[in-house]
Amino acid sequence: MKIAASLIATLALAATTIAAPDNKHGNKPNKPIVINKKVLQTSKVPFIPHSGTALFTNWVGLNVDFKYVKPVFDLVNATKAYGNGTLISRGEAHITTIPPTEYDNILHPAGVTIEELNALAAKNNRLQRARFGLECLGRVQVVTKDGVFQQSVQIILKNYKDILSYRNDVFKLFVKKGGNPALFAADNFTPHITIGFKNRDIFIEDGVYKGKNACIHPIVAK
Ligand SMILES: *[C@@H]1O[C@H](CO)[C@@H](O)[C@H](O)[C@H]1NC(C)=O
Ligand SMILES: *[C@@H]1O[C@H](CO)[C@@H](O)[C@H](O)[C@H]1NC(C)=O
Repeated sequence: MKIAASLIATLALAATTIAAPDNKHGNKPNKPIVINKKVLQTSKVPFIPHSGTALFTNWVGLNVDFKYVKPVFDLVNATKAYGNGTLISRGEAHITTIPPTEYDNILHPAGVTIEELNALAAKNNRLQRARFGLECLGRVQVVTKDGVFQQSVQIILKNYKDILSYRNDVFKLFVKKGGNPALFAADNFTPHITIGFKNRDIFIEDGVYKGKNACIHPIVAK
């Protein structure tokens, strides 16, 4: 009997421990979504280079600790007003800084290599050390050309000067190599952290813009 009681107590404690992050962050409907502010400390996670030989395999991203994004995914996935049904998660989180299309179609043809972009990002851990703020929870929806309803939910960023400054240096490198300045705009960019999506993720190429325009709910880092 005593053993059973202590087992129950242990289980209850374990349950509290597991549930604590969400309770502590007190997510309630009609209140801003709360995310652990440690999500902003990206200098604590490694920079991950993405390179390959095929199209869509070369891109630059600021790695984000998924551990802090997962509770937001779980909340969005379980809340119809946010997720509109269940979503697919990639099981990782990042802020795309140079998308694969920009690399394949614009930078690479001008002779800019992924090694150069990675070196620029990794120097003094520059990209991972970038500071940024959270604008809102965003959602974009579109019926794509094939007639399928697509939806993607993301955390939209604000105050991302450090990320822009990286893109500005990429612009300088591109122009130095003879690239046409009309084809790359450092600030034509809507940084976000993808939370999840239906079917597949959607992009500018699908006609959607993941900026302030896409906000559906406030989010705060605490
Ligand atoms: C929810 O998703 C369905 C498709 O699954 C779509 O037809 C509908 O417009 C969406 N509604 C809202 C409110 O987002
Ligand atoms: C999203 O929610 C659904 C329904 O509860 C669940 O079946 C699914 O596993 C969840 N997705 C993830 C990636 O956890």
